[in-house]
Amino acid sequence: KPRILSGIQPTGNLHLGNYLGAIRNWVELQAEYDCFLVVVDLHAITVPHDPAQLAENSYKIAATYLACGIDPERSTIFIQSHLPAHSELAWLFNCITPLNWLERMIQFKEKAVKQGENVSIGLLDYPVLQAADILLYEPDVVPVGEDQKQHIELTRDIAARLNFQFGSEDKPVLKVPEPLIRKAGARVMSLTDGTQKMSKSDPSDQSRIDLTDPPAVITKKIKRAKTDPMRGLEFNNPDRPECNNLLGLYQLFSNQTKAAVAEECREMGWGQFKPLLAETIVAALEPIQQRYHELMRDRAYLEAVLRQGQEKAEQVALPTLDKVKTALGFAPKG
Ligand code: TYM
Repeated sequence: KPRILSGIQPTGNLHLGNYLGAIRNWVELQAEYDCFLVVVDLHAITVPHDPAQLAENSYKIAATYLACGIDPERSTIFIQSHLPAHSELAWLFNCITPLNWLERMIQFKEKAVKQGENVSIGLLDYPVLQAADILLYEPDVVPVGEDQKQHIELTRDIAARLNFQFGSEDKPVLKVPEPLIRKAGARVMSLTDGTQKMSKSDPSDQSRIDLTDPPAVITKKIKRAKTDPMRGLEFNNPDRPECNNLLGLYQLFSNQTKAAVAEECREMGWGQFKPLLAETIVAALEPIQQRYHELMRDRAYLEAVLRQGQEKAEQVALPTLDKVKTALGFAPKG
């Protein structure tokens, strides 16, 4: 089976963007791929974090993976910090990655502006650790949202550079993976501004719908979502980014084609569409929320899943780390 690797940071609640851009695709890909899905807690400390919340947030992400339909018998779910191989490979990559490759990263520049004087080396190094997460598992594809495109490109560049410097043309050290960015859901936008992506770090709660929001909150957020005064609803009108986003959400949560939704909603006004959208999202999230809350009450089960995941992940990651260390010329362990 071909393999995929992907992950999510345990920083706060997951929202519809994380679900539609990432997790929902993984659930589908499970049928064809051997999936490695990691909770990237080492990434979560690249910005100031609360130690009292970190472990809890990691369990929440693992529970969300399961609640959304990731099957622990078929897929491997694990916590990044449980495998020191991730940090170790990141160090090796640090020593072959030009500094200016990292200084160019859009996400670094955006986050660094907010942090001012307090920007850590870790924040700059974030994409190198991500490259280690990915390349340790030699996946065929990396399914992510649109915002991760540049990080996957960097991962490919690091792998190619390592292969060029330390491998031979007929025998590359590392496999160079492909990004998998599905068009639908790859960029879910904010409810308060259709030109900004939905984001965990937006200060306004109203801008996003969290996967754990109760029905009344979802309905209220949709009701207050930004719209426009134009008549009828349509996709792809550059003057109506909010309309495009909300129709897109309706399409994905009602599992219809774009054409069917365009047809159904062509004549609708917001007063008719918004309750329909809210109802559709609430209905789709209800079973996920129910399973999520059950899982969060069963810590022993979550721990067992994560322990088994760690063991399965090690079987793939450790040989890759060894292969890279050998290529770099380290003395073998006795
Ligand atoms: P994170 O936690 O910020 O995002 C997790 C996933 O959610 C996607 N996403 C979105 N998709 C559509 N619309 C949105 N508004 C939206 N917001 C977020 C992201 O693209 C991502 O797929 N750097 C990664 C974490 C990571 C990782 C990895 C991913 C670390 N190592 C290895 C893949 C492979 C991230 O940004 O996570």
